[in-house]
Amino acid sequence: MLDLIIRKVNLPDGRKGFDIAIKDGAIVDVAANLKAKAKREIDATGRLASPPFVDSHFHMDTTLTYGQPRVNESGTLLEGIELWGELKPHLTVESIKARAMQFCHWAIARGTLAIRSHVDVSDDRLLAVNALLEVREEIKPYIDLQLVAFPQDGYFRYPASAANLERALDLGVDVVGGIPHFERTMAEGAASVKALCELAAERGLAVDMHCDESDDPLSRHIETLVFHTQRLGLQGRVTGSHLTSMHSMDNYYVSKLLPLMAEARVHVVANPLMNITLQGRHDTYPKRRGMTRVKELLEAGINVAFGHDGMMDPWYSLGSHDMIDVAHMGLHVGQMTGVKQMRRIFDTITYNGAKVLGLEGYGLEPGCNGDMVILQASTPQEALRLRPARLFVVRRGKVIAETPPVASRLELVNRTVEVDFRYP
Ligand code: FE2
Repeated sequence: MLDLIIRKVNLPDGRKGFDIAIKDGAIVDVAANLKAKAKREIDATGRLASPPFVDSHFHMDTTLTYGQPRVNESGTLLEGIELWGELKPHLTVESIKARAMQFCHWAIARGTLAIRSHVDVSDDRLLAVNALLEVREEIKPYIDLQLVAFPQDGYFRYPASAANLERALDLGVDVVGGIPHFERTMAEGAASVKALCELAAERGLAVDMHCDESDDPLSRHIETLVFHTQRLGLQGRVTGSHLTSMHSMDNYYVSKLLPLMAEARVHVVANPLMNITLQGRHDTYPKRRGMTRVKELLEAGINVAFGHDGMMDPWYSLGSHDMIDVAHMGLHVGQMTGVKQMRRIFDTITYNGAKVLGLEGYGLEPGCNGDMVILQASTPQEALRLRPARLFVVRRGKVIAETPPVASRLELVNRTVEVDFRYP
């Protein structure tokens, strides 16, 4: 007897009317009209089954602090950093944990079961590190959580960051972070990239840096990151997050950069909600969009994933941790409205994110983990258009979240009309 069969699903690659069978936490069969029986059967009636959403870039230590101790009225990156500085002395392990757990519940309800969270190590008490290490263990049955040691106030600029970052790694934080554009000079930024890549190579860890989160076209730390990735044999294990300066770079320079990035197999994480909100703040009009060159990066064969980055925190006052919101914004900002382009956008919050995190057993093929989300939409494109209800969220063959289908009933003269926005 199987644990779960979900019948008549559409798959992200366009296959329709397939049944997915799960036993002992893993997918054992994906085929039309399976004869087998299961303890629980769900008729998906032609709705989309997707592997769970992946958030490749988040800050779980700052989330759900909106309004504490005050609201970021200007909405700028700098006021956000100031605000976080005001809040830091009042943090406790308990309050960080409680907020992070509440956030995880929101993520599960939205079908996101893998998250890479940066955690601030520019705090000598390492409160957030200790809190999120506990959250990582407690949430493990439901969410694959990876932590990045993130020197928010600079690796060199904040004197204790280097020691704190090593302590965080000793405690079990998974990935080496960085913020080269925030160091005092370009040279210090480049030196931080070198030092942090060497540290990762020494410890056999991955790297994920906030890199060139700036509108300055001369912020070129990605070049240095790619160079040390090659030099140290870190190909496939290094991620450049944000890379917003690439939006403003000279086209000729980018034409040299893209092949180097592809050769070093660096991953790119764009954060459309935050990039469109925070970048271009020094522009009058025209205003730059600030998001990195997602379309061109994908065309160059570079793995691009999306992150939510922040939610209800000093930098971003909106969101409910819906990765489809992120993809929806990304496709608009990146002008990726072609049919194939929208399909690739859906990958940025699913398969491409799984590559960034190096997840094992991710996907909807036999042998993969029994993890998925059933959406109230029939295709990835419709999901991007409707940002639909997550009808069922499945983890290792068990339904861990359910949301009833959403429809509006109109009471008009002499008739009742149901509207669910499906097309055709
Ligand atoms: Fe970030």
